[in-house]
Amino acid sequence: MRVIIKDNKDIVSEWAAQYVAYKINQFRPSATKPFVLGLPTGSTPLGMYKKLIELNKSGKVSFAHVVTFNMDEYIGLDESHPQSYHYFMYENFFNHIDIKKKNIHILDGMTKNYAKECGDYELAMHNLGGVNLFIGGVGEDGHIAFNEPFSSLTSRTRVKTLTESTIKANSRFFDNDLSKVPTQALTVGIGTIMDADEVLILATGKNKANALHHGIEEGISHVWTVSALQQHPHGIILCDKDAASALHKDTVDYFMDIEKDKF
Ligand code: GLP
Repeated sequence: MRVIIKDNKDIVSEWAAQYVAYKINQFRPSATKPFVLGLPTGSTPLGMYKKLIELNKSGKVSFAHVVTFNMDEYIGLDESHPQSYHYFMYENFFNHIDIKKKNIHILDGMTKNYAKECGDYELAMHNLGGVNLFIGGVGEDGHIAFNEPFSSLTSRTRVKTLTESTIKANSRFFDNDLSKVPTQALTVGIGTIMDADEVLILATGKNKANALHHGIEEGISHVWTVSALQQHPHGIILCDKDAASALHKDTVDYFMDIEKDKF
């Protein structure tokens, strides 16, 4: 696992956007060989999306041959709900870039048939040859996508019931009213994410420090699902100093040294 520690959130966003653009350009995607990108929601990736929009508008990267799969969606919110992940993605990213609508995949939280929706999602990724780069954020309890503590580390796309801690954390987007936060979501599994060629997890802020300590310095455990990244051959955690603040000094020194000249 690589751990890349930057001074602040803004530099994390810039690095992430440049990295995504670099990976897409290096791949030379075409209509018959698209680049497959897994994407997160949340406040953490917002800066990356802003910078990717700038890179797209200035001609540095195109999404014309990029296919996306979002990580998750709340059950019971339709696309027009301002807190749905559909709405978030179009508002903050897709409406501003040259991506084709047919290439955007987001789980349907209004489906009547969860098993089919989730199975079709996995199949669509598989039929494209898998995900090239999966980007994610991390919850305070170490969850990635909506794979809450004690999720199977081999899990696939499915329904998950949200924990009290996630509902509380996400209530900030629902007028701080816990009763307005959906209690369930559809989410890709840890196994789904780990099947990607590469996984990039973004973390900023002190509230993520404990999750990174467990994910990076403790053993692989379903309690902190982000720790599954330790077994991925190409896993990167990109974080700011605040999110790295609970790591041992030796860990920080090691990664600061080894990563200093790398992209
Ligand atoms: C939600 C999402 C996760 C996201 C997490 C952290 O639970 N399902 O994908 O990583 O929130 O969000 P934030 O970046 O706002 O801290």
